[in-house]
Amino acid sequence: MGDVKTVTVRDATPADLPAVAAIYTHYVLRTTITFNTQVRTPREWIERFETQIATGRYHLVVAELDGVVAGYTETQRFRPKPAYDRSLELSIYVAPDATGAGLGGALYGELLGRLEADERFHRAYSIIALPNDASIAFHERWGFVHRGTLTEAGHKFGRYLDVAYYERAL
Ligand SMILES: CC(C)(COP(=O)(O)OP(=O)(O)OC[C@H]1O[C@@H](n2cnc3c(N)ncnc32)[C@H](O)[C@@H]1OP(=O)(O)O)[C@@H](O)C(=O)NCCC(=O)NCCS
Repeated sequence: MGDVKTVTVRDATPADLPAVAAIYTHYVLRTTITFNTQVRTPREWIERFETQIATGRYHLVVAELDGVVAGYTETQRFRPKPAYDRSLELSIYVAPDATGAGLGGALYGELLGRLEADERFHRAYSIIALPNDASIAFHERWGFVHRGTLTEAGHKFGRYLDVAYYERAL
C-alpha cells in the first residue's frame, strides 16, 4: 500500500499550457502518434487557448496525478466546412510515464459526459495513427466505433502510416 495516486480532472487554465505543451511535444518529436512534426510554440498555445477554449466553444481538460498535470484532452472542429459544425475531433495525451494509471479514463469520463449534455455537438471523432493498440482499446472502451482506415495517408520519420477513424455518438 501507500502507492495509491490521486487523479483529478479540471479545465485547463493558461498556467497549465507549459505542462500541456511538454506532454504534446514528446509525442510530436518522438512518435508517429500525432502527424504533427513541429511543436506548437508557446505563443500558438496561448492563441489557441484564447480563441478556441476561453470562448467556451471547445475544450481543454487536464488530469493531475498527485497534483501534477500529466495528461490532457482537447476538442477542435472536425473539418472546416459549415456542415461539420456539430462534429468534433478529440485528442488525448497522457505523459508516457503516467499511462495506465486511469488518467485517460478520468479525462474521457469528464469530457464525454459534458459533450453528451451539450446540444451543440452530435458526433465525436478520434483519428488514430496506426499502430496504436492502447488507443484503439481505450477508444473502444469509451464507446467509439471503427468507421474505416485510410492506408498510407501519413508520412513521418521516413515511412507511410495508416489512420483509423473512430466515431462516437454524443
Ligand atoms: C491511449 C491513452 C490516452 C489511454 O490513457 P491511459 O491513462 O493510459 O488509460 P487508462 O489507464 O485510463 O485506461 C483506460 C482504459 O483504456 C484501455 N487501455 C489503456 N491502455 C491500454 C493498453 N496499453 N492496452 C490495452 N488497453 C489499454 C483499457 O481498456 C483501460 O480500461 P481498464 O482501466 O478498464 O483496463 C494513453 O495511453 C496515451 O496517452 N497514450 C499515448 C498517446 C496516445 O496514443 N494518444 C491517443 C492518440 S489517438
